[in-house]
Amino acid sequence: MPAVVLVGAQWGDEGKGKATDLLGDQVDYVVRYQGGNNAGHTVVIGDQKYALHLLPTGVLSPEVVPVIANGVVIDPGVLLEEIEGLRARGISCERLLISASAHLIMPHHKALDKVTERYLGKAKIGTTGRGIGPAYGDKIARMGVRVQDLLDPGILRKKIEVALNEKNQVLTKVYNRRVIDPEKVLEEYLGYAERLKPYIADTSLVLSKALDQGRVVLLEGGQGNLLDIDHGTYPFVTSSSPTAGGACAGAGIPPTRLTRVIAILKAYTTRVGSGPFPTELLDERGDWLRTTGHEYGTTTGRDRRCGWFDAVIARYATRINGVTDFFLTKLDVLSGLERIPVCVAYEIDGVRHDEVPMTQTDFHHAKPIYEEFPGWQEDISEAKSFDDLPPNARAYVRTLEEMSGAPISAIGVGPGRTQTLQLRPLV
Ligand code: IMP
Repeated sequence: MPAVVLVGAQWGDEGKGKATDLLGDQVDYVVRYQGGNNAGHTVVIGDQKYALHLLPTGVLSPEVVPVIANGVVIDPGVLLEEIEGLRARGISCERLLISASAHLIMPHHKALDKVTERYLGKAKIGTTGRGIGPAYGDKIARMGVRVQDLLDPGILRKKIEVALNEKNQVLTKVYNRRVIDPEKVLEEYLGYAERLKPYIADTSLVLSKALDQGRVVLLEGGQGNLLDIDHGTYPFVTSSSPTAGGACAGAGIPPTRLTRVIAILKAYTTRVGSGPFPTELLDERGDWLRTTGHEYGTTTGRDRRCGWFDAVIARYATRINGVTDFFLTKLDVLSGLERIPVCVAYEIDGVRHDEVPMTQTDFHHAKPIYEEFPGWQEDISEAKSFDDLPPNARAYVRTLEEMSGAPISAIGVGPGRTQTLQLRPLV
């Protein structure tokens, strides 16, 4: 009954899509357990590139059952567009299952996400503007609308009216926005209901039975460890729990059933949006990493902030998630450097810190302490095994492994499906 969790070890965008896709042939179910269409996975198959936001990557593998579990927030219009987009390219989503307990992103969530960011001014979080935070806010405040409400028009009407009763006051009186008409929202969402009905299921039960039957379930996290609402760089985080613990609550699978935690770790570091980032490079070296690594957001197209590898946050990912394996991505991007700096610890107000500091204030003041490692000049994108890598690339991998505290079991050397070196089985 293997249940494998895949998490981002840094601030998201580590290349999870590639890992899920690689595992696609070995798994039966691929489950998204948190987040929404703030996530972005790019998967390259042959000469085709697929950008997925809400659908689990497993949708691209014909044998896999893709699942959107209870911990996800769903924008139904976006989901249907994504399903249609894939259908137009010959990919069927008919196996898709959507949890009846997942929450819906409503029009007022999107309106509030944009307007609250504007009011925050310089203190803005840099959200994706997709309504994620307000949707989770309503979930916790017990004012949310769930997928199962689409099945009961009377309840749907009541929930929309109750929510807009309050939110329209906030939109008009606090933020000077227009009111949202509950009738129009009801009509729009009843339209979605018809089209989504065939996919709605008790996904926790489906997954429990699947595990009983020895099926392989892959739980695919969006974002990353440091964007976790509890363990990330709060308040510059997303509003859910991408960490391995969140996978259990977000999919309705007990912790005792998890067998493996694979963390995706980029060979350098990136982040989108605001917040502390100790190894960020604000000079031409950062521009070089961005251009060479194509570091532009899948969801928003924003430039990603770029910096060297940070072993402190990699160790932190191991601790918070109980990482059993790392999947190191984008090693090829570093080819051509004379020397590669790696942050091994922080200096904060003259004191060395080997762990992520306890307070955000300290994290904001953390200065990286670097060690430099010799680079390699060879193109590694055609390597087929670990031994094909130049000695300095192998040494770099071994160094990261030692510093991060868990074995590196796979290495990405290019964006293509075949450009992965597998050092040991992942399932
Ligand atoms: P939200 O999830 O849209 O509320 O955005 C909160 C923070 O998480 C912002 O800094 C976003 O840039 C960041 N974020 C959300 N989703 C992703 C992702 O998939 N990759 C990287 N950053 C993300």
